[in-house]
This record gives sequence, C-alpha cells and structure tokens, in this order.
Amino acid sequence: MSGRPSLKDADRDRNFVWHPYTQMKDWERQDNRVIVRGEGFYLVDDRGRRYLDGTASMWCNVWGHGQNEVVEAMREQLKHLQHSTLFGLASEPSARLAERLIKLARGSMDRVFYTDNGSTAIEAALKMALQYWQNRGKPEKKLFVSLEGGYHGDTVGAMSVGYIEQFFGAYKPLLAKVSRVPSPLFYGSKFESVQDLVEHCMEQTEKTLKKLDGKCAGLVMESGAQIAGGVVIYPQKYQQKISELCKKYDTLLILDEIATGFGRLGNMVEYLAQNSKPDIVCMGKALAAGYFPLAVTLAHEKIYDAFLGSYEKNKHFYHGHTFTGHPVGCAAALANLELYEKRNLMQQIKKNAQYIKQRLGEFEEIGVVADVRHSGMLAGIELARNGKPLMHLKSKERIDYFVARESLAMGVHLRALGNVMVVIPPLAIGRNDLEKMMDAHLELAKKAEKL
Ligand SMILES: Cc1ncc(COP(=O)(O)O)c(C=O)c1O
Repeated sequence: MSGRPSLKDADRDRNFVWHPYTQMKDWERQDNRVIVRGEGFYLVDDRGRRYLDGTASMWCNVWGHGQNEVVEAMREQLKHLQHSTLFGLASEPSARLAERLIKLARGSMDRVFYTDNGSTAIEAALKMALQYWQNRGKPEKKLFVSLEGGYHGDTVGAMSVGYIEQFFGAYKPLLAKVSRVPSPLFYGSKFESVQDLVEHCMEQTEKTLKKLDGKCAGLVMESGAQIAGGVVIYPQKYQQKISELCKKYDTLLILDEIATGFGRLGNMVEYLAQNSKPDIVCMGKALAAGYFPLAVTLAHEKIYDAFLGSYEKNKHFYHGHTFTGHPVGCAAALANLELYEKRNLMQQIKKNAQYIKQRLGEFEEIGVVADVRHSGMLAGIELARNGKPLMHLKSKERIDYFVARESLAMGVHLRALGNVMVVIPPLAIGRNDLEKMMDAHLELAKKAEKL
C-alpha cells in the first residue's frame, strides 16, 4: 500500500471529519479539497489541483512543504528515540532546544517549559503566574488583565484571557472573569493622533491595575501585534510602556509570541525588539515550522525560583502533558532554527517585508479598502463600505466565505478574519509566490468592491 491516501480515503474524510471553526452544513455542500501532499509552497489535492499555502498552514509554516534538513533531523531522532517523558527524566533534544531558546532570549529569560500547542503554552503561563504569587505568600494576587480583541487560543484559560464573544459566548460558564483594557487600534478610534491613542490606552490600563488594588496576578497580551483580533500592529513604545506599568503595579507581564515571534513581524524575538521586559513568554507556531506540534512557555529566573522548596511545601509546578517536550518536536525545532541561520532567513524576511509594503500601496486605491496595517510578514487589509465593516457582499455572501472560496478557485488558499483580509505567508516564501499571493489579495479586494 502506498503511503499516500487514496481517493477512497479522501472521500471518507468528507464523511467523518468534524472540521474546526467550520459550519459543517455548508462544508458538506461544497467541493472540498482533500490535501494529499505538499510541493514547495503549494498544497496539492487529491485531484492534482495546486494551492499556494497563503495562510502558512494556520500561520506556522516557514519553509513550505517537502523534504529538507528539518525532516532529516526528525527522521534521525526517530531512529534513536521516538518519545520519552519529561516527568522525572530528561531528554537530549529538549535540553538542547531549551539552551538554544535561552540564548535567543539574550539574558531576558532563564527556563523553558514545554507544551504541545499555543493554547496550552498559555494555560501553563496562567497557572505559573497564579502559583508564583501563591508560592510567594500572596494568594490574593489572582486576577488577570488582558487586551480587548486579544486571542490566545481555545482552551479554557486561553479563552478567558482572549475572550471573543462570537467565538466563545457559549463557553462563558467555564471561563474566569478577566478585566479588559483597550487595544491600540488607531483605525476607527476617536483619536487624532496615534500618540493620543497610546496615552488613552495607558491611562485606561493604569486605571484598571489601580482598581484591582494589588490583586492582579498578570497582564496577558500578544507581543507586537494582535492577529486574530483583526491585525492590530502596536504603535511604537506601546508595549514598552505596558511593560513599565506592569513593573510599577507589581503585575507579571505575560507575553504571547506564539503567532508573532520567529520573524513574523520582522524580528526573531519580538518582545526584545519592543523593548519590553516580560516575566513569562509563550512561543509556538513557527518554532517547529509546522513539522510538529510544539510550544514553549519561557520564564524568568524570578518566577522559577519561587517554585523551589522542599517537596512537602508543595511548591512545584503541577502542569504537564503526555507529549511535553517531545524529542521529535524538539529535534525539528532545533533543525528549523539552524536553517534560519544557514539560509539567512531574517534577511530574506526583511526584503520580502519591503516588497509587501510596496504592494500594499496598490490597495489604497480600492474604494472598499478602509485601512491597511503592516509589519514584517503580516498585513491586514480592512474592508468597509459607507464607513461600516464590510461583512457581507451585496449578494449577502459573507466576505470571509467569499475570500476562502474565490481564493481557492484562483489556486491560493487564503482566509479572512471577518472583514479583514490577512496577508500571512510562509516565512521563507519566494518572491514569485509572494507576488502571486499579493495579486490574489488585490484581485479579491477589487472583486469585493464590485460584488
Ligand atoms: C496569538 C495566539 N496565541 C495562541 C494561539 C493558540 O495556538 P494553538 O492554535 O497552537 O493552540 C494562537 C493561534 O492562532 C495565536 O494566534
């Protein structure tokens, strides 16, 4: 039997797989694509149709699809050790990767806790923050603050801090109460300058921290930009100022770099570029470049130290998963980070970011394009008609459905976030493919204007 799924297998997928964030009633009526292999930056379906991976396979893909040194390293790892636990045992790849990540953090972080996806990296961070204060004899510090429009994943703690009504309304009974502070989105705000907006955000955040009156365990936010909340690129100094506020109010700063780190915004470590000083940082997605589910929660020594003590004091961290620090995932991440250097990826990202910036100028001439936001390998193109978010076409079709359907017909896989078209290519995409992707976005925006 060949390793590739047959058409029969593909048909079975249509019948039994329950897809995430997908209205299955619509799905069953569609010509659904069953991806059977990858070729470069393209995904190929069971009928041989090719689609440029314009979502970077949910924002994690770096090198495209195919054989390379990362796959080789994973194969090599599998020959020696498939999986062994970090509960009471160490493993070489997890130790080496942790060392590598601490080096990248350039003295700002000291310990690495492993999980297997971004959401659970956030869960670990929240639990770490709560227990940190508990262990330090300040159990009253148990509340969290987060940003409006933030997104941190789909597990219970992550949904609590990244609450989006449309997504999570039904799960509210499970969620913890969290205080929200404004996100620094200039478009559509009442402020005359970005500086005024930042000042407003600072005032509101400080007011909230004051109101919580020493009871705040941590402030959680995405680092550098919010993506799922509609691509909000933070203004200069915003994150630095939040970081300073957290210190002032003795609140832990928990940064989520899951989607924005490893070059997405043009910097390897985004929080360092933002001059911020987090206590805990979560990373995932591009860390293992899509080869393996892997995420990490990095902690400053100050956090780690609070968990030390005799066994009876019960201070140690009660979190762990079956696949915590999986050796194959760690080997993949190590090889991935080596490839970043070997292929000088950050340089390529700089050039491609420049190209994206230049192409975005073309969108400003389209009537329904109300705002364009960009940093590095991320851009958001906000669509509006008559000053209102363009959620539906005149035909009543939802804009995000339209983008998904039409882009596939054009041989590119794209997904919009509500009325915001998102440019988020695989990080090492070549210029020709990037051009094709920008062309597709442009054509879709022009079509949306007419339809
Ligand atoms: C900023 C951010 N945090 C956390 C997550 C959750 O990561 P995962 O989907 O790996 O659980 C995501 C996913 O898109 C994200 O964008």
